[in-house]
Amino acid sequence: VIRANFGHALNRIMKRAQKKLSKSGPLPFVFLNIANSADGKLAPPSRQFIPFSSARDRVHILELRATADAVMSGARTVDLAPVKLGTGSAKYRRRRLRRGLKECHLRIVVSGGGTLDPRAEIFKHDFSPIIILTTGRARGERLKELQRRADFVKICGERELDFAFALRWLRREWGVKRLLCEGGGEINGALFEAGLVNEIHVTLCPVILGGRTAPTMADGKGFPKLADAARLKLTSQKRVEDELFLVYRVLPE
Ligand SMILES: NC(=O)c1ccc[n+]([C@@H]2O[C@H](COP(=O)([O-])OP(=O)(O)OC[C@H]3O[C@@H](n4cnc5c(N)ncnc54)[C@H](OP(=O)(O)O)[C@@H]3O)[C@@H](O)[C@H]2O)c1
Repeated sequence: VIRANFGHALNRIMKRAQKKLSKSGPLPFVFLNIANSADGKLAPPSRQFIPFSSARDRVHILELRATADAVMSGARTVDLAPVKLGTGSAKYRRRRLRRGLKECHLRIVVSGGGTLDPRAEIFKHDFSPIIILTTGRARGERLKELQRRADFVKICGERELDFAFALRWLRREWGVKRLLCEGGGEINGALFEAGLVNEIHVTLCPVILGGRTAPTMADGKGFPKLADAARLKLTSQKRVEDELFLVYRVLPE
């Protein structure tokens, strides 16, 4: 009985300490990068990966990764396509070192229910740590399998993923000051709803993908009222042939 009571008390203290930590400490600078079709989609309704942006945009992705301490994506972005979230060639790794960054960025995958496919391509490329952010919904063999595959699995909430807690933990424990999120729509939506996005890089591509169920830049629950919507300021625009490279700053709430 004494041991059980001690266990409960310790649990309560840990939970309280965790709650406190989720509300204090610096957050990383969070910037998103996505390629949008001209009708605002990230992919076709089948959600199959199709590289609809230009070769220039693919260079742009690597250039942005070369400024980040960590690159993060949702489970479906990572396991529906052969994604490895890599740094690109040695040129980008040299660029990182010149900037005082680690040679390779950390790779972070969000999978609240632990449904991330353990056979995903990302696990076959061992050049930088892979961290999975999950919740208490990921259990049993599924959780154990991910723990075997990843370098670290962090539980950040019981049912809902507490992004503020997760991002503060990444900054504190892994030194993540600049975090690049590369979608998809569900994870981006959650970051907007939590008010954690600082900057958005959008490549607007000259193609219409259509489909009401196709993913967009920010899916998830969305903002029911315009008053709650995230507000942006356009800070840079560049046209390369028929593509527009746009940068928006997210205004404080
Ligand atoms: N054009 C582009 O630039 C671009 C970029 C990225 C992706 N895409 C496309 O977008 C599609 C994937 O996007 P998507 O929106 O379907 O999926 P996603 O955001 O990549 O991943 C969704 C999964 O991530 C986890 N997740 C996301 N938000 C979460 C939250 N708030 N709490 C807990 N877990 C969360 C969940 O995993 P669990 O199921 O384990 O809970 C969820 O099922 C693909 O078609 C991909 O090709 C395009």
